[in-house]
Amino acid sequence: MKLFYYTVLPLAIYAAFNYLFHHWLPSVYVFDKVVLQELSREVIANHPDGNATAIMVELTPKIQAAYPHVRINDLNFDDWVMNNAGGAMGTMFIMHASITEYLIFFATPVGTEGHTGIHFADDYFTILTGEQTAALAGATSPEIYLPGDQHHLQKGDLKQYSMPRGALALELAQGWIPAMLPFGFLDSICSTLDYISLSKTIWLTGKDMILNLLAGKL
Ligand SMILES: *[C@@H]1O[C@H](CO)[C@@H](O)[C@H](O)[C@H]1NC(C)=O
Repeated sequence: MKLFYYTVLPLAIYAAFNYLFHHWLPSVYVFDKVVLQELSREVIANHPDGNATAIMVELTPKIQAAYPHVRINDLNFDDWVMNNAGGAMGTMFIMHASITEYLIFFATPVGTEGHTGIHFADDYFTILTGEQTAALAGATSPEIYLPGDQHHLQKGDLKQYSMPRGALALELAQGWIPAMLPFGFLDSICSTLDYISLSKTIWLTGKDMILNLLAGKL
């Protein structure tokens, strides 16, 4: 019996989680970071003036066309929400949110800086306008990402990052998305008390997750 509780059971639980998170989870992802970066680069090349609105207006239908079987929201300017997380502040538009992936535009017309958070997800941040700088603990100079570059924040990594005025990015997160949500909500609950943005974010995210689940997308 002791052998079961102290050896077999922990090993079985470890094996189950290992399978779930490293084999099953990636098998339900639909988006491909490489495709998203290629589409972004094509569109950026068409807009040498760096007009963020024009870039989003052109990029959204291209992504929708690349993933015809995935629910991707049409770009509109009513469903943008303010987002405070890790001390940084920006504004975002949710194109897709499901249990294992989200795809958003994240913009900071004013500029911001903060903590990336520690996530059970890989995060691919493709710069569309402006730039992002980031640094791991111990780094003495920043990583610099320019339009068309993709910053991969690996699952479990944590960095300081900044996006100066006028930066816009396409962000893909792949992992266990519900575990990321507290990071996205707590600055509002504990600091800004901005229940307007918080409730709108919960509504837009929850609605998308449920509609995707009903459509068979985990
Ligand atoms: C940027 O693009 C949008 C949409 O195409 C357009 O309405 C706007 O006038 C452009 N802005 C500038 C400064 O060119």
